Amino acid sequence: MLRALQSVRVASSRYPSSMRWMSAWAHVQQGPPDPILGVTEAFKADSNPKKMNLGVGAYRDDNGKPYVLRCVRKAEKVLNDLALDKEYLGITGLAGYTKLAAELAYGADSAPLKNGQASEPNLIVTSQSLSGTGALRIGGEFLNRFYKGAGGKTIYLPTPSWGNHGNIFRDAGLEVKQYRYYDKATKGLDFDGLVEDLKTIPAESIVLLHACAHNPTGVDPTQEQWKKISTVCKEKGHFVFFDMAYQGFASGDPTKDAFALRHFVEQGHRVMLAQSFAKNLGLYGERVGLFSIVTDSAEEAKRVDSQVKILVRPMYSNPPLSGPRIVKEVLGLEELRKEWEDEVRFMANRIISMRQQLRDHLVNTYKSTHNWDHITSQIGMFCFTGLKPEQVDRLRSEFSIYLTRDGRISIAGITSKNVQYLAEGIHTVTK
Ligand SMILES: Cc1ncc(COP(=O)(O)O)c(C=O)c1O
Repeated sequence: MLRALQSVRVASSRYPSSMRWMSAWAHVQQGPPDPILGVTEAFKADSNPKKMNLGVGAYRDDNGKPYVLRCVRKAEKVLNDLALDKEYLGITGLAGYTKLAAELAYGADSAPLKNGQASEPNLIVTSQSLSGTGALRIGGEFLNRFYKGAGGKTIYLPTPSWGNHGNIFRDAGLEVKQYRYYDKATKGLDFDGLVEDLKTIPAESIVLLHACAHNPTGVDPTQEQWKKISTVCKEKGHFVFFDMAYQGFASGDPTKDAFALRHFVEQGHRVMLAQSFAKNLGLYGERVGLFSIVTDSAEEAKRVDSQVKILVRPMYSNPPLSGPRIVKEVLGLEELRKEWEDEVRFMANRIISMRQQLRDHLVNTYKSTHNWDHITSQIGMFCFTGLKPEQVDRLRSEFSIYLTRDGRISIAGITSKNVQYLAEGIHTVTK
């Protein structure tokens, strides 16, 4: 066998001929670049000083620079002075962190958590995760292994959804289908289509909902619409998996942004949740998130917890230490928590102000005749502009403005210095 392989010479190999045989990976085909990270690569290679990267969903300050929250810096200092050890965490992570994170999402007075406070065991099973993506993946794996609802192992995603959702759930072994969500004509929510789809998909299906600041559209249901969605899901017995990657980023108020999740739990849904601290604490690269499941009883929580551990252990053994320690300090120390609330509101407000300025320049400075109301009515980090792929290409080639070809822009990448330039570009390619 080896001799047969050795006979296949690879002309371009760096190895001397005596060491050349066919690589085990000769059949591996070139894969496509990640659509979002590919935008950043192209941006980096551009030498135009006016260039703008509106592809990546990361907050930037008004100078276009990455922003580390002050409360995070202070927490790091506290931790540094404590000179803590670097021992392994348990499989499901740092207990003080997982408790605070769950309380932030569900509310400290949430009934399944309140059980814990009344010295009864907590009914929400938690596992620290590799940010939001890791939480989604644990959820996907858990559903694949244990979900027995009549709807089967198919997860329904909104159309469109965050680009990675489909890959995460397919790789976890689920089938991925879609329900209607975004209405291209109104650039808003296709609420009737959404409700109709939730009613017509098989009973007891798995449905993924973005808890707030829907990515990529920036279009969220109103509170009244959420109530209706909850009722429909209940009537059909659907299992709801919430993805909450932007708590605090939509409105500036983490409690308000948790409305949908908390309402569903109040209504008796035993949901699953993927939480991320990448955006709201600016801890992108620290990879700190939380996976959680609301269970029926203490006894069920114990069983589910044991299986989450069995699932996580062979994937990455146990999660990292630095990120959750930071979050624990910030959420746990009153002074830092208050500072965080101010900072998250500040970030959300800067985004809201950029939306306003972008729309104003299009309408007032450039007298664009198109309707740009959706720029200010959409919410969160992203705006689904409605730009067509060819218009996106022109923005890139004529203005060095980079965004994904679906027309999504990260508002967080705009500053008061370049917002007019962006409006000029958008106006030019849509005239
Ligand atoms: C909707 C949604 N879910 C989850 C994530 C996961 O992010 P992370 O893994 O960085 O926490 C993102 C990131 O962009 C997102 O937009």
